[in-house]
Amino acid sequence: IHSSSPSTLEIIPSALLAIGPQGKINTLVKLEDDSLQDQLDQALNRLPFPPEQITVTHLGPGQFLIPGFVDTHNHAPQYAQRGLGQGMHILDWLSKITFPNEAKFSDPVYARKIYTACVEGFLRQGITTASYYGSVHAEATKILADICLEKGQRAYVGKCNMTRNSPDFYVDKSAGDSLRETRECISHVKSIDPAERLVNYVITPRFAISCDEETLRGLEDIARENEDLAVQTHFNEARQEMEETQRLFPQFAGSEADLYEDFGLLGKRTILAHCCFMDGHELEKIKKLDCGVAHCPISNMTVGGGFMAAPVREFLNRKIKVGLGTDSGGGFSSSMLDSMRQAMIASHAREVLSEGKDKGLSIPEVFYLATLGGATVCCLEDKIGSFEAGKEFDGLVIGTQGHDQGIMTMVEEEDTMETVFEKFIMTGDDRNVIEVYVQGRCVKGQRDDGGHLMK
Ligand code: GUN
Ligand code: FE
Repeated sequence: IHSSSPSTLEIIPSALLAIGPQGKINTLVKLEDDSLQDQLDQALNRLPFPPEQITVTHLGPGQFLIPGFVDTHNHAPQYAQRGLGQGMHILDWLSKITFPNEAKFSDPVYARKIYTACVEGFLRQGITTASYYGSVHAEATKILADICLEKGQRAYVGKCNMTRNSPDFYVDKSAGDSLRETRECISHVKSIDPAERLVNYVITPRFAISCDEETLRGLEDIARENEDLAVQTHFNEARQEMEETQRLFPQFAGSEADLYEDFGLLGKRTILAHCCFMDGHELEKIKKLDCGVAHCPISNMTVGGGFMAAPVREFLNRKIKVGLGTDSGGGFSSSMLDSMRQAMIASHAREVLSEGKDKGLSIPEVFYLATLGGATVCCLEDKIGSFEAGKEFDGLVIGTQGHDQGIMTMVEEEDTMETVFEKFIMTGDDRNVIEVYVQGRCVKGQRDDGGHLMK
């Protein structure tokens, strides 16, 4: 089951998905249910691999495959603070809860412990790609990149640049230090994964409030020198944040799009988190510059003071790239299923608020946002997000049977694949995520028959 567009969910009842070297999808062959075995044999014979190198593995009863989830926005050093400070406004929440917590990542031993739990926890939830904000610390950020690579998660990892409006105990010492450490982290990430197989650096000015002009100009230089690097920041998240940004940068008359564009940070590799408050000018500019939106429906309504459903229907109508972010720990959950459900809830509230103009999101649409939409936001749509031949295999084996053993979905005889899928999206959790594959490598679970995708 995968998406081919925001509104098109493709459910293929029987198929052969052939994965070749480096985890690349060689073919997706649709099979008819009558004469299944014959068709399977023929499809296998046509594969461009020597038969002795082929291992065939079958999904079990009630199981199906979906693409891995893409979490376009979250904070690894907030993994242990998830759930704290619900209802607080953004600047208060940062200073009272988040900065004291993130400051603990000056200790590399602590960083390794929490980041290991975070990456393992994300993989368990089926998040095969994540765009991570690290803390302000270079050493901890390098550790995070190492752990993603070790555990086999596809990731963007960035050290937060924060040179002002941050407490003495949690701030870059100077713009010069911030930029030097950023360059160090970029070199480190390039050195551990030179082929950019899984892990990439992402330039991460936390938000304009925490960066002085020298830092933003320096990041502009870094972005220009490294055109392949992604950029991420928080954007038009909440009134308190927008007012403070306007006070610090009056020359941009309240437009964050103009601000970040002026500092050369908006482009097709830019991931803008939240985008709750978007007027026509902001929408047109991010569309023109081909930026992606990380829609964070949980944190938008629980932390930060946006308390607002972002205009996702407007993004889709305007063909602005959009995916989902857990934004954990501002978001209390690091489950993409929770994010999908909250995206639906928020969109229905928006439908009412817009007097029917912004229609609520459907299950195929929120599933698209969590998979192919997220891949598009991360500029990875040529590599992941669906099971198209030529992409890499990042996929989840979903189990829907075993209610008596703790799986929450209740499947009944009369269910169709559509209703089973719908029940999984609305009632499932990580217990349904039986196996997780990134680039064809199994990173969670193991088939009972010991089957691998490729010998
Ligand atoms: N703006 C700046 N930093 C943060 C953060 O950590 N979380 C959220 N939600 N917004 C931010
Ligand atoms: Fe965030």
